[in-house]
Amino acid sequence: MPDIDLIVREIAEEMRARPDRGDVATYIPELARVDPAGFALAVVDVDGHVAVGGDADVAFSIQSISKVFTLTLALGKAGNRLWERVGREPSGSPFNSIVQLENERGIPRNPFINAGAIAVTDVILSGHQPKEALGEILRFMRFLADDPTISMDDAVAASEQRTGFRNRALANYMKAFGVLENPVDYTLGVYFHHCAIAMSCRQLALAGRFLAHGGRNPATGHSVVSPERARRINAIMMTCGHYDGSGEFAYRVGLPGKSGVGGGILAIAPRKASIAVWSPGLDASGNSHLGRIALERLTQRLGWSVF
Ligand code: DON
Repeated sequence: MPDIDLIVREIAEEMRARPDRGDVATYIPELARVDPAGFALAVVDVDGHVAVGGDADVAFSIQSISKVFTLTLALGKAGNRLWERVGREPSGSPFNSIVQLENERGIPRNPFINAGAIAVTDVILSGHQPKEALGEILRFMRFLADDPTISMDDAVAASEQRTGFRNRALANYMKAFGVLENPVDYTLGVYFHHCAIAMSCRQLALAGRFLAHGGRNPATGHSVVSPERARRINAIMMTCGHYDGSGEFAYRVGLPGKSGVGGGILAIAPRKASIAVWSPGLDASGNSHLGRIALERLTQRLGWSVF
């Protein structure tokens, strides 16, 4: 049996020492202040054992990783009707791109690019006040991680509210096509805030367990989604979770994964583990540079690629 604790610690030490860290996101001013030296890795196995390396209890901005959980919630509300509002094909374009919307009736390619996640947020919001929708998302995160301390970083949300002109453009463009039902400001307010949820690698890996175990959290016994839905969410993570870097991530890591511009990645090794990694420096596609390299090491050493 490989010693996962040792492997995780060794990878964390190697990553901490590397000089090539990528660049932290600057288009959200609050994220530009984050120290690029941070690194963390947490792996929760089938039995619930958590192997950790680095700053595994330091909270960071989960950003687009929240889109996995909002997709899960929206599928719970709308079922397959969700796919009338958003596609499930990789875009091959950057996360904040607008180009495909014009030719595709304002329907975003998938739920993980910004346009798609805004449409998904609009589905969760339907018929509620923004505060209620945000409460629901936060409660869901706390329930999944079994941790009532998870919260939103209001400074990060406010920072993006002030500067999120591209997202405002995407939302207005979709609204013009009738893809969004709620007032644009309401939908964006909820979107910016769920992206600003702060979690540690330990909390994130725990929250992702249902995806590794057929939709059921083995710790609590709670069934979160059906096995079929868990499989499908994993499929979209694999094909779309890293935007125009999704092919490269599948090639190198071989696991479903979802990145965030805060430098986190949630990766799922089906039937084996839920994994979270964090290193704030990003590559050209806006995905964690060392996070991806660390996951590549981990899957190589443990033979965990799904391929
Ligand atoms: O909407 C945005 O631009 C951010 N709140 C989230 C983008 C993001 O995390 C891209 N992922 N790597």
